[in-house]
Amino acid sequence: MQADGLIERLPPPLLKLIVTAGRLADKSGIKVYLVGGIVRDLMLGRPPVDIDIMAEGDAVRLARQMAQEPGARLTVHSAFGTASIKIDGFGIDLATCRSEDYMYPGALPRVRAGGIRDDLQRRDFTINAMAVCINTSNRGELTDLFGGRQDLAEGLVRVLHNKSFQDDATRMMRAVRYEQRLGFKLENSTSKLLKRSLDMLDTISGDRLKNEFVLWLNESRPEKILRRAGRLGVLGKLHPALKWDLPMSTAFRRAASGGGTTMSRLYFCLLVYNLDEEELYELLGRLNLTGSRLDLLSHQSLELKGKCGELDRLVIKRSALYFTLREYDTTAIEANRYYAKAPNLRRNLGLYLDRLRHIKTSLGGNELLKLGVKEGPKLGTILKKLLGARLDGAAQSKCDEVRLARRLAGI
Ligand code: CTP
Repeated sequence: MQADGLIERLPPPLLKLIVTAGRLADKSGIKVYLVGGIVRDLMLGRPPVDIDIMAEGDAVRLARQMAQEPGARLTVHSAFGTASIKIDGFGIDLATCRSEDYMYPGALPRVRAGGIRDDLQRRDFTINAMAVCINTSNRGELTDLFGGRQDLAEGLVRVLHNKSFQDDATRMMRAVRYEQRLGFKLENSTSKLLKRSLDMLDTISGDRLKNEFVLWLNESRPEKILRRAGRLGVLGKLHPALKWDLPMSTAFRRAASGGGTTMSRLYFCLLVYNLDEEELYELLGRLNLTGSRLDLLSHQSLELKGKCGELDRLVIKRSALYFTLREYDTTAIEANRYYAKAPNLRRNLGLYLDRLRHIKTSLGGNELLKLGVKEGPKLGTILKKLLGARLDGAAQSKCDEVRLARRLAGI
């Protein structure tokens, strides 16, 4: 079967390198293929991200030859017999075709060298299990053993065989990610299989779950994935207290339009916002996130949630608001802002995030020293008071600050 014009959809610098790779492979007498996500995305007309090349032969040798091209940077991962090339902001990963089998559910696969058919058989979904030959004489020849092209046309995510989720339960998380990213549907028996295989997620290590989880949060619409994962029971398998509900949906919608400093971290804080201390502890442990930045942020977010009552006031001194919230990372405050139901609370958190946190005094420590303020704790106190005066409008200019600083220092 031919996939005419598919490779030609690659951006010019990549196309050039792929054509070169085909020529080099011809010379070495090996077959080489584009495979997996790149074939899927090219067929869908989506912009390519990274490229996977599989060689029925020595992939590292081929990578070394390709890296002679101008602008190409090579990294060889000798331990794995793989190599990566960076060119023009794109990444190309090269590996030798292999076949895999799993000793027991959740185990890392046992790997042997194989041909392209073996390589495709070990993959997760039909839409990810296609290969396009790049050798000169066979360029554009499609290997599609499982009807991936048809499933792409019908918008279906389908596993290759009934043991797929048992072999690797992270595929359940991947299935939801592709389904929601591409606006596809889980094919019927895949969906049934997934629901029956949920317990297999218990066989997956914390690190692997974390990686998939982070991939969810980095998608452009993670709320769609989380909602679907909630309905399918995948979310509840990560922790029984994780639920997708209407307030969460509202918070995610607000966050998506309001923005945040680091969206994936913010989404994590939103997702765990309704867990109690113990549940959060358990979830972080399960995802091997204990002690991580996400641990810190989600704890801060819950701690601040406990203080929101104090901040839900029509009239609040700006300096008081500032000095309370200054203790928290912006992401933790954003999470509370997007969950806030009370209009005053929402306004106050927004006031801090959008305006107050950017306010600075005109005078710094050095200027105070020049004015004659002595070094020591008093200097810090004066700086804080100057900032408070700026926030509350009692000092509006550098002159005001100088006057106030002199008065406070008694000079
Ligand atoms: N793969 C698999 N099972 C997994 C992980 C990966 O079969 N648990 C295969 C799939 O064929 C996939 C390829 O390895 O297409 C590359 O994996 P990855 O880089 O994670 O996915 P991409 O397909 O490149 O998709 P994307 O990065 O867009 O999510």
